[in-house]
Amino acid sequence: MEYKQIEMEDCDQVLEHLRRSFFADEPLNKSAGLCQNGSSCIALEAHCVEAIKDRMSLMAVDAKVEGCCKIAGVVLNGILRPGNAAKSLKKLDSTSDADFRKIFELLHGHSLKYNLFEHFAVGSIFDVRILSVDSGYRGQGIANELVKQSVAVAKANGFRLMKADATGIFSQKIFRSHGFEVFSEQPYDKYTDKHGKVILPVEAPHIKMQQLYKRICEGDKDDKEQPH
Ligand code: ACO
Repeated sequence: MEYKQIEMEDCDQVLEHLRRSFFADEPLNKSAGLCQNGSSCIALEAHCVEAIKDRMSLMAVDAKVEGCCKIAGVVLNGILRPGNAAKSLKKLDSTSDADFRKIFELLHGHSLKYNLFEHFAVGSIFDVRILSVDSGYRGQGIANELVKQSVAVAKANGFRLMKADATGIFSQKIFRSHGFEVFSEQPYDKYTDKHGKVILPVEAPHIKMQQLYKRICEGDKDDKEQPH
């Protein structure tokens, strides 16, 4: 497996991978029924392309395979600045995609309520936005490697803080194993409308979203590399 930076010209192949993998299987997308059956979702794809533009995203490529299926996994990393969540939340008013709105009102609303910028006094955050591995390649450590290499990219670019909104128990485990800590949580059964109805009935075993963070200090090692 080769790991490399995602360039703008890789966008179509990356989106093709995400339609088959992340858009179909990520717990919140699955619950909302967003982009099921490999279909596209304009708002979600625009969100992915925004991250790729920051040029810190990575893909795992199976060199033995030709064409779009050669992408085994991706991690889309973007730069988060104060005010971004509020702006994105406001932008949701004009989206016609109700399912996309359900998901991103939860994520952006949570970021505003539990503000990492204020808490850690930083001006920018390395945001791990999308972690996705093709179902045919899962269980081989690809997500682990993508997170490990993302930590290296964050360090190389001088970030002091990383964050990830991990929506399922497996991604939460992966981030924690790389030294991420829980900053705040949102149980899915507490995300309700004004009648008390659960907005996103996420399937077990995923019961909550975790906002995780990792502080980056000079000379740190990835926790997975440290002897126990
Ligand atoms: N069941 C049990 N354990 C699992 C599972 C599973 N289904 N998936 C991962 N794990 C564990 C592994 O055992 C491993 O633990 P270890 O390090 O102690 O050995 C660890 O998680 C990492 O496993 P990897 O093989 O690196 O993970 P993989 O490459 O299979 O990818 C991922 C995991 C990304 C969650 C994949 O299943 C996927 O793409 N799911 C759909 C999209 C999704 O939910 N993405 C995360 C959303 S949060 C975000 O994007 C910021």
